Amino acid sequence: MRSKITVVGAGNVGATLAQRLADKEMGDVVLIDILEGVPQGKGLDMLESGPIAGYDSHIIGTNDYKDTAGSDIVVITAGVARKPGMSRDDLLKTNMNIVGECTKRVVEHSPQCILIIVSNPLDAMCHVAKKLSGFPRERVFGMAGVLDTARFRTFIALELKVSVESVNAFVLGGHGDTMVPLPRYSTVAGIPITELLTQEQIDRLVKRTRDGGIEIVNYLKTGSAYYAPSAAAAEMVESILKDKKKVLPCAVHLQGEYGIHDLFVGVPVKLGAKGVEQVIEIKLTPDEKAALERSANSVRELVKVMSL
Ligand code: 2OP
Repeated sequence: MRSKITVVGAGNVGATLAQRLADKEMGDVVLIDILEGVPQGKGLDMLESGPIAGYDSHIIGTNDYKDTAGSDIVVITAGVARKPGMSRDDLLKTNMNIVGECTKRVVEHSPQCILIIVSNPLDAMCHVAKKLSGFPRERVFGMAGVLDTARFRTFIALELKVSVESVNAFVLGGHGDTMVPLPRYSTVAGIPITELLTQEQIDRLVKRTRDGGIEIVNYLKTGSAYYAPSAAAAEMVESILKDKKKVLPCAVHLQGEYGIHDLFVGVPVKLGAKGVEQVIEIKLTPDEKAALERSANSVRELVKVMSL
């Protein structure tokens, strides 16, 4: 039987994600938005690409949550995006209401789904979705680390003029200015980048990774990145639906791991058919641990402001 994937939000991230899922024939796709006509138009346009691109995924656009019933995976991308000068945290109040409402409606119709949150500020929005869904942490988590590591991998590959496929990278923490790229665990064909790059080069790439989101916002002026974010969410969906058990950095509800309690923070997890099947804990140096704590504290501040 085909899987059913709902994408909430037919903006740039949502629509591009729906297209990527169809291209990979991950299942049938429902694209839902409150704007009338937009998801329907984009959905139909994607459906009509099928004969050319060679996919049989059925795609519909809708404003009615009844059409999302029985979804296996729901990805929430709804919310407003940043403009130049704004931090992800500036979106807190607006997106909290949007993500909260979407979560309630999704869960009414797909109580057994796996929920992937993409809306910003990411880690805080995961708290909203967890609270309103009542789902266990295995079935509600966020996309950010895959995007942040993809940016780090890109910059490492550019610097060393090697294939991005040879580069693995590791980023921990919240999806914000305090994220923690870990050079020690970032490698080119298994060789730590600390063996291949100077400290000055590494610092520059780490900074560019932290500022990766705003770099795009400053170019686009009217919105934020969507090609890499949608590619990241699609990789997570694929790992779940194919039960690949990829180890990917995701925002997950920590319950004591890394010494952090009751907080969504980005850490490596195993993603399979059941969702988050394992949280992988690695040893950190005192400096890395302090950086992760700083990052966790900034997430905690936002969660406090929301007083869920
Ligand atoms: C980014 O980092 C939108 O947060 C997203 O580009």
